[in-house]
Amino acid sequence: MLSKVDLSLVLLTLCSCAFAVRYEPTWESIDSRPIPAWYDEVKLGIFIHFGVFAVPSWNPNGSTAWMWYYWKALKEKIFIDFMTNNYGPEFTYADFASQLTMEFFNADEWANIFALSGAEYIALTSKHHEGFCNWPSKYSFNWNSMEVGPKRDVVGELANAIRNKTKLHFGLYHSLYEWFHPLYLQDKANGYRTQNFVNDKTMPELYEIVNKYKPEVIWSDGDWEASSDYWQSKEFIAWLYNDSPVKDTVVTNDRWGNDSTCKHGGFLTCEDRYQPGITITYF
Ligand SMILES: *[C@@H]1O[C@H](CO)[C@@H](O)[C@H](O)[C@H]1NC(C)=O
Ligand SMILES: *[C@@H]1O[C@H](CO)[C@@H](O)[C@H](O)[C@H]1NC(C)=O
Ligand SMILES: *[C@@H]1O[C@H](CO)[C@@H](O)[C@H](O)[C@H]1NC(C)=O
Repeated sequence: MLSKVDLSLVLLTLCSCAFAVRYEPTWESIDSRPIPAWYDEVKLGIFIHFGVFAVPSWNPNGSTAWMWYYWKALKEKIFIDFMTNNYGPEFTYADFASQLTMEFFNADEWANIFALSGAEYIALTSKHHEGFCNWPSKYSFNWNSMEVGPKRDVVGELANAIRNKTKLHFGLYHSLYEWFHPLYLQDKANGYRTQNFVNDKTMPELYEIVNKYKPEVIWSDGDWEASSDYWQSKEFIAWLYNDSPVKDTVVTNDRWGNDSTCKHGGFLTCEDRYQPGITITYF
């Protein structure tokens, strides 16, 4: 016979079992995690694109962050002409990096403006598709904001300012692919049967930014050319939810592979500027 005390102990044990659930690296398991409450409660977030593309800051076809792609991958004539006319024929995209001075980047000032705007979280591009890391990455030799350009840890400065001065949640955007990274292009040429880029670049740096800056949003992107198996996304998200320093509060999106967008992950972003049409309430 169980006394009342014994019974509540049994219930407590059951409850802690329920909460100590571990996520498996499968979409079924990952999708079963309830989204942390803070993300449902915040109403407004600010998304910040910041990188080497801020130097030319020019793209009549679309996002300035895509300038390099229009120039070198699509070989659009207006981009080739723009570069030749303004910078000469020898100038490379990498040459822009030394001109990225960021003299007006004041993290404390930004944090104050964000807080005054009423926003409750931000997401900064830790690295966009150009591959330039806004933090001193161990895996991005000579193509990060500490080694070239401003010589500053942009992610670190902003993370500290947000946490010291505001109640906002700090988040990071991260691009899985890099348009012109030689290891990525080689994996792609191999039909994604090799994963050298993922093993040596993408995954090490994702673990690095989570351990170092403890972002509560990982806004993943640049996934669409390959599957979540190639990217090893499910293994990463299982670690993020089970063992990372932000396991209880982190939220992530759905851009983790050509099999996940609009289907799997955390919150669903589907395509850019997606309008879900309805507000979903979780009970
Ligand atoms: C870029 O803009 C130019 C000029 O409007 C246009 O001719 C070209 O088709 C556009 N390219 C793309 C890829 O959208
Ligand atoms: C801001 O945070 C950093 C890291 O947590 C700390 O080293 C620094 O002293 C803080 N600055 C202020 C003004 O509180
Ligand atoms: C997804 O990417 C993989 C390479 O990782 C490729 O083999 C597959 O055909 C792609 N699937 C779709 C639906 O595009």
